[in-house]
Amino acid sequence: MEERELEVVPGLAGIPAAESAISFIDGEKGILEYRGIPVEVLTEKSNFLEVSYLLIFGKLPTQEEVNKFKTDINFHSRLKLKIVRMMEHLPENGHPMEYLQSVSSAMGMYYPAKNVLDTDVRYWSIVRLIAKLPTIVASSNRLRHGDAPLQPNNDLSFAANFYYMLFERVPDPLTEKILDVMLILHADHTMNASTFSARVVGSTLADPYTIVASAIGTLSGPLHGGANEEVIHMLEEIGSKEDVRPYIEKKLEKKEKIMGVGHRIYKTKDPRAIILQTFAHQLFESNASKKGKVLEIAEEVEKVVHEKLGHKKIYPNVDFYSGIVFQGLGIPTDLFTPIFAMGRVTGWLAHWLEQLKTNKIYRPDQKYIGLHNQPYIPIDDRN
Ligand code: ACO
Repeated sequence: MEERELEVVPGLAGIPAAESAISFIDGEKGILEYRGIPVEVLTEKSNFLEVSYLLIFGKLPTQEEVNKFKTDINFHSRLKLKIVRMMEHLPENGHPMEYLQSVSSAMGMYYPAKNVLDTDVRYWSIVRLIAKLPTIVASSNRLRHGDAPLQPNNDLSFAANFYYMLFERVPDPLTEKILDVMLILHADHTMNASTFSARVVGSTLADPYTIVASAIGTLSGPLHGGANEEVIHMLEEIGSKEDVRPYIEKKLEKKEKIMGVGHRIYKTKDPRAIILQTFAHQLFESNASKKGKVLEIAEEVEKVVHEKLGHKKIYPNVDFYSGIVFQGLGIPTDLFTPIFAMGRVTGWLAHWLEQLKTNKIYRPDQKYIGLHNQPYIPIDDRN
């Protein structure tokens, strides 16, 4: 039996999986744009909810449109008591990403959204998912530590409300700005693994809660969203600036990856890492503090990695500095990736709507390399 000659491209690297008008990356020049607007401009002038609207609906909202969107999000930010009760029964040592994935999936039972061709169903599930993810992340963190979840405070901005639900205090303006920037910077990033996963599941006409649950699962892996946690573990393991060089050399000798560096698309420093590095400096004015020391170690890692891997165009990606900034804000390490998901959910939803416009179910091919016409061996004769 002859197989068709097919070339398999590992990881589908460089293969376009869809046409998209949502975000754009120039990996050589280090450019990232959302609907044509550079992220540097959006992080300076906009805010997360406005950016979400831009990504999902394809244009910057008018004042009236953004007001309605914010009101709708605020109105839907609470969790049903039954959902909180469900979370109370999940294991305390479960990872917050597992909580987020399980609860996102369960939301589909409380807010049925099977008719994805109905524009109202789409709109209200988009609103609910953006609104409720922060409440799930904050509530699950409190429950896992024996505290009662807090109701959202809708007098606060989206980012400040999340901080409030987590810590029961209102953040200072720099903390609020950084959290908002963090959500903007994670909101979309072209055809990455979790977005591809969202589009594949969306192409089956599955409901948006199932799509988001699948994308959250994809994001949880250490080669994707989980890398920011790994970066902090690495920096803590290194311990001091002087120990950076031997640590990196040993890792590279053993052919192990350095976390938070390298990217399939960026062949220069990730523009998001540049923005976050600046905020990291603002946060740690004094390098003498423990957290400042982490930044000092990180910048030494960047230097040594550049020396050793610069020729392979390996530079820091967003995860390299996001973990450091999160840590500086006092955010628990295991919440880094869930917060990434709180931002990225808007990108997943934007891609879902885009996918539905010209939908064709994903069904790639494979190159079969197995056997044919094998005998069925009776169980007693097998070894
Ligand atoms: N440390 C050391 N070497 C690296 C690293 C790294 N982090 N990343 C790539 N390389 C090397 C590879 O060993 C390979 O070398 P070779 O050609 O001599 O064999 C070369 O660079 C190409 O690497 P690939 O793994 O083929 O590149 P790919 O595009 O498949 O991988 C990835 C990209 C997965 C992000 C990779 O760089 C990596 O594992 N980085 C660490 C994990 C990480 O930070 N992930 C977050 C990504 S950003 C995000 O998801 C938000």
